Amino acid sequence: MEIAIIGSGYVGLTTGACFAEVGHSVTCVDNNAVKIETLLAGEIPIYEPGLEDLVKKNVAAGRLRFTTSTEEGVAAGKIVFIAVPTPPQPDGSVDLSFIEKVAREVAAVIKDYRVIVDKSTVPVKTGEKVAETIKRYAPEGVEFDVVSNPEFLREGCAVHDLMNPDRIVIGANSDRALALMQKLYEPFVAPVLVTDINSAELIKHAANSFLALKISYINAVSALCERCGADVEKVAEGIGRDSRIGDKFLNAGIGYGGSCFPKDLAAFIAISDQLGVPFNLLKEVQNINAGQLDRFVDVIREALWVFREKRIAVLGLTFKPQTDDVRCSVAIDLIEKLVAEGAEIRAYDPKGMEKAKELSVTSKITLAPSALEAIDGAEALVIATDWPEFAALDFNEVKRRMVAPLIFDGRNLLDPGTMAQLGFTYRGVGRGRCVAGS
Ligand code: UGA
Repeated sequence: MEIAIIGSGYVGLTTGACFAEVGHSVTCVDNNAVKIETLLAGEIPIYEPGLEDLVKKNVAAGRLRFTTSTEEGVAAGKIVFIAVPTPPQPDGSVDLSFIEKVAREVAAVIKDYRVIVDKSTVPVKTGEKVAETIKRYAPEGVEFDVVSNPEFLREGCAVHDLMNPDRIVIGANSDRALALMQKLYEPFVAPVLVTDINSAELIKHAANSFLALKISYINAVSALCERCGADVEKVAEGIGRDSRIGDKFLNAGIGYGGSCFPKDLAAFIAISDQLGVPFNLLKEVQNINAGQLDRFVDVIREALWVFREKRIAVLGLTFKPQTDDVRCSVAIDLIEKLVAEGAEIRAYDPKGMEKAKELSVTSKITLAPSALEAIDGAEALVIATDWPEFAALDFNEVKRRMVAPLIFDGRNLLDPGTMAQLGFTYRGVGRGRCVAGS
């Protein structure tokens, strides 16, 4: 099938490459000419495992094209996806101006029947507005349908998630559009859930908020564990083995970040307020998340007493492993807090260094070329992102390079017993205290 994707960011580009991989003919559109030139030159502007190969393969096969022209995209694609950013506004609600602009642009060039699919994460009732906008600006008599088809991919494993979805949600109010969407997804082996547009939009916000709630739940339990000497990892395992609860997203740590959870929670709270049904439970999820980082900083402060002039190694800058994305990263928030109190930070990340350089806080810290060089002369080592390579470090060498063998593991990446045996004083999240040699 011929499809167009307007917006070639994380979601648009990966979605386009995966549709091409299953045999569809895809035109990716973006108004950022530099991005399109980069893609036409065979380079990928983001780091996402597996994406580069997929893009190259499908461009070579003639199934994937890039253009800055919406007109070209809409002419080529019977189904037109909107995958543009929906950034947060200061009050938590979503800035829908990019979506509205694309709706107008599509309306200006639409000539015959098209299915316009909202892929971006949007508040409930956005589909109705998109339909109204296209109707207002499109030539009279041109037929179209609007569909909501939320995405559930995670950064870092986006290609895997798209090729092997848990479910496909299609929110459609017309049989004609639904038939085309079902045909589009035929090559994917996954249950298809058909709903109305509003329900599909709600599913996306409700799913992300529920996952964030699960993380905050286990983080609240981790605070209890620290008070009473229990181990949150064991508690998570014990509750996660109940199939009604499930063991995923129960990893305690310094909190969730990234470009989705914080923004989507705020947006869900905002739209709930607007609809007159305040979602106070989610406000508490946000509070717990913020408090978790503060508690972790308190733990480090308790050990180091004052931060001023203390050299601290921070491993991890990205909001999670397997990505170069540092947007809303808790690792960056943590560094900002430590820097504000005068700590000297030497940080390292396997993939996030380039993007981190664009952030103002990195001008106040040293970015080291390797984990061990970040650790050189440090009085404490903080793990802020759970990159597997940090667990694989030679910890005897780590200890030799440190002024004092102190580890603060914000992601419970390391084994406390092993670290204590190696002579470290180790503090994780919700795991009590492990003292060297014990
Ligand atoms: C999230 C959702 O998981 C996807 O399903 C959704 O499609 C995506 O948002 C989106 O809306 O676009 P993503 O933001 O890529 O995906 O990352 P996650 O893997 O969900 O992690 C989010 C944050 O939660 C990270 O900071 C991670 O470190 C943290 N986290 C995750 C925990 O602290 N504990 C956990 O157990 C799991």
